[in-house]
Amino acid sequence: MAGILDGKDLRFPITAFAFNGLRIMIRPNAPGWLIVLEGIDGAGKSTISRHIAAHCTARGLACVQSAEPTRGPWGLKLRQSMVEGRLTLEDELELFLKDRAEHVEQVILPALRHGKVVILDRYYLSTAAYQGARGVAPEWVLTENERFAPKPDLVLLLDFDPAAGLARIRARGDAPNTFEQAEQLLEVRRIFLGLKRPFIRVVDASGEPAVVWEACREQIDAVFNTEGLATAREGATQRP
Ligand code: TYD
Repeated sequence: MAGILDGKDLRFPITAFAFNGLRIMIRPNAPGWLIVLEGIDGAGKSTISRHIAAHCTARGLACVQSAEPTRGPWGLKLRQSMVEGRLTLEDELELFLKDRAEHVEQVILPALRHGKVVILDRYYLSTAAYQGARGVAPEWVLTENERFAPKPDLVLLLDFDPAAGLARIRARGDAPNTFEQAEQLLEVRRIFLGLKRPFIRVVDASGEPAVVWEACREQIDAVFNTEGLATAREGATQRP
């Protein structure tokens, strides 16, 4: 009995050390962190983004909040097309890539190099899911983006079922355009949930806002703790 317990005691710290060591080694954006919020429209990404910023500030970590499409020239063109009429898939894809390339160069990489936490409301997983829903292969989109866009440390995929909203629209016999958009949202969600990357964590966003934030906070602290950074609960030291 004692022999078996001894064996377990020995094995566990070695496994834990190897696991933590591996996570430190693969932390892709040192000295900064890249945390991304993704999910279908209405998932509450901007609220969570504010929570994350406050959480970082409370820990003495400098952070930058940003979003895609950006307010730069390509991003504004995309936003305009959403109001005035959708572009072809090819043109849309090209603009999202140009917008992102500029965002990476001007905002994301400089902040990461300064050791900041970059919090993004949408990134290239949105292109995989939304333009994927229009017909382009999601995995191809991910690979193309990863040629120039830094991989996130963490993607919080805020997930909820838009079916309830869709049923309401159906019952109302609402405008086909609205219906079409809602149908497309189901497809976007399906693609999001099928994306395969080790940094994606799916968070159930259908609950109370405080519960959703708690689930996100746990994931964020797990990422910060790869460098032994203190969590609020542990109340230990902060990163210099
Ligand atoms: P959204 O986050 O809703 O911006 P805002 O709240 O500021 O209006 O993004 C606008 C839309 O852009 C949204 O419906 C998803 C879409 N989108 C794509 O289709 N592909 C992408 O690569 C990105 C980043 C967004």
